[in-house]
Amino acid sequence: MNFTFVTLFKNIVEGYFSDSILKRAIEKNIININYLNPREFSDNKHNKVDDSAAGGGAGMVMNPQPLFDALSDLKEQDENVHIVFLTPVAKPFVQNDAKRLSKKSHIAFVSGRYEGIDERVIEEFADEVFSIGDYILTGGELASLVMCDAISRNVDGVLGNCESLDIESFETPLLEAPSFSKPQNFRGFFVSSEYLKGNHSKIRSLKLALSECKTKFFRPEQLLKHRTQSH
Ligand code: ADE
Repeated sequence: MNFTFVTLFKNIVEGYFSDSILKRAIEKNIININYLNPREFSDNKHNKVDDSAAGGGAGMVMNPQPLFDALSDLKEQDENVHIVFLTPVAKPFVQNDAKRLSKKSHIAFVSGRYEGIDERVIEEFADEVFSIGDYILTGGELASLVMCDAISRNVDGVLGNCESLDIESFETPLLEAPSFSKPQNFRGFFVSSEYLKGNHSKIRSLKLALSECKTKFFRPEQLLKHRTQSH
């Protein structure tokens, strides 16, 4: 699967892929990362990519021309590219989106900096527009990395046997039960005893009870959803 990061700040993104699971996926050619810098498409003699906002207001807005030309070029190279814009003014990105988007052959993430991107670019090129949460980042790069990471781990072959996709939080409304490893007694803190006795049906019901507790505490609205679904 191909990912293209359309950004003025390749350095922010690049470091993320230099280690761990996604590095291995790149080495195995399961995912492939490219970068496209709108500045390289600027018609301006100083390669300027932003300007003051029409109608006034603080901050600079990314001009349409460099992005229009960069994205037209990208579409000419691959007509199947799925173009995603990252902005806080958008629908929230959730686990189901990560699973669905993992079936695409090529996703381009367009990150805005400054006060945002000229709306005409979004109107013309966006297949989808996402926010990763109700807070404002200084740019879309981190948001595009969050999406890329969550999508990639659903691509076949990215996770090894040890890192399982089986029962994860957000696959159901309940949050996952807590996990423990060894030793059983760590400085006087014990692993819940049912986890150690090997009775799988008891372990399952304990995990369900713990999941419900966690969900009630952290995400009560999700517990309501779970109860409505299971009746
Ligand atoms: N850019 C700035 N804030 C953002 C957010 N919350 N989600 C996606 N892109 C953003």
